[in-house]
Amino acid sequence: MQLPDHGLDPSAIRGSWSAATRDDVDWRGGRGWSLVYDSPDWHQQLVDEASALFAHENALSASAFPSVQQFESETIAMVASVIAPESEAFGVFTSGGTESIMVALKGYRDLPGNETRRRLVMPVTAHPGFWKAADYLGFTVELVPVGPDGLPAPADVLAAVDDRTAAVCLSAPCFPFGVVDPIAEIAGHLAGTGVGVHVDAAMGGLFLPFLDAAGVEPPQFGLDVPGVISVSVDMHKYGYGMKGASVLLFANPELRHASYYVSTGWPGGAYAASGVIGTRPVGPAAAAWTALSALGRSGYRELVAQVMTTARTLQAGLAANGLEVIGTPPMGVFAATSAGPSIPAIAGALGERGWWIDTQEDPPSLHVVTFPRHGEVAEQFLGDVAWAVGKASADDAPHSAGASYGVMVRGGSIDDQVLREHLDERFTVPD
Ligand SMILES: Cc1ncc(COP(=O)(O)O)c(C=O)c1O
Repeated sequence: MQLPDHGLDPSAIRGSWSAATRDDVDWRGGRGWSLVYDSPDWHQQLVDEASALFAHENALSASAFPSVQQFESETIAMVASVIAPESEAFGVFTSGGTESIMVALKGYRDLPGNETRRRLVMPVTAHPGFWKAADYLGFTVELVPVGPDGLPAPADVLAAVDDRTAAVCLSAPCFPFGVVDPIAEIAGHLAGTGVGVHVDAAMGGLFLPFLDAAGVEPPQFGLDVPGVISVSVDMHKYGYGMKGASVLLFANPELRHASYYVSTGWPGGAYAASGVIGTRPVGPAAAAWTALSALGRSGYRELVAQVMTTARTLQAGLAANGLEVIGTPPMGVFAATSAGPSIPAIAGALGERGWWIDTQEDPPSLHVVTFPRHGEVAEQFLGDVAWAVGKASADDAPHSAGASYGVMVRGGSIDDQVLREHLDERFTVPD
């Protein structure tokens, strides 16, 4: 592949765009069970409009573009009004769940007094973004096992904490099983000890608080919980904004200051950054602000009620086909194991019918993230599950899924080298 000598015709370019999407997941048709958090068409269009309108403005400089200050600060304030209504919150806007984790942990690392605290304690279900951030920032990670319900015992987490621990990292909910860690029990013991508690509410931040709309008592996870010192919430998940948007809230201004990177002495002038990324568009902040403003509490409640109705239908239908949901997930995010046919065989058969469903390793399970659009396809999906289970019963495929998060490498053993080669492939021009 070479740079063309002369630019191509726009119609040829547009043709190539649609050709490029040939094998993409048909999320608009409700075929994906992860990755795209769809929303009603009117909402999606408004968010797309905001994102496109602010695609070129550079969020690096709020001096040049005061619009970004307005969108980010008001987004932070609106999110805080939901997940920290009784507390003071000091927020930053980031590009996503991983960057929020990275920035939060930088805060814990650089907080004055934390110089000798270089350990993090977390259940094994915490997102790998924590492991990555620990690697980048020089922390060691102490993993705590979880039980068959996907939850750690609070006593095990607390026993792993020592005077070198900077923070305990918990999830609301964790990605693999969709269950919410026992946050209040753990954080309550750590309040005032100098050990921070970060809650990763990437998925649940704008879903869990509205669960009463589906007749479920919302679990507590935000800054109002004693001992919780920071919490992250993704706007590009159940916030229904555009990708590239997350809110990170700190309980005190000192931790927010420690999370910043600032320097002076560069010939170009002083530098101050609240996140990892430099130049980025204002679009995701404009879209996040738009999503919150356009949906309001009533809009989020409606979507939660809709998703939970679908999730209950799915869980009952999966159970009827011999698949068992792990633990008691309060949201529409859950995993299901199979006592019968192998999970990879079931997932493979579902793939033949055009469904994109993630599989997990430990235990082998299908992973489901329920989106609003799934209400329209739930019955069709369950019909295909019945067919897939029947087909897989005739298959003696091993139970190990050979699958990994965000990367689909099915049917082989996975080690670090396989994963590196998978990434190499991503940057290789396809045949
Ligand atoms: C619980 C949780 N935390 C963090 C992340 C990472 O978020 P991102 O992919 O936006 O960086 C995810 C992504 O799915 C998640 O589910």
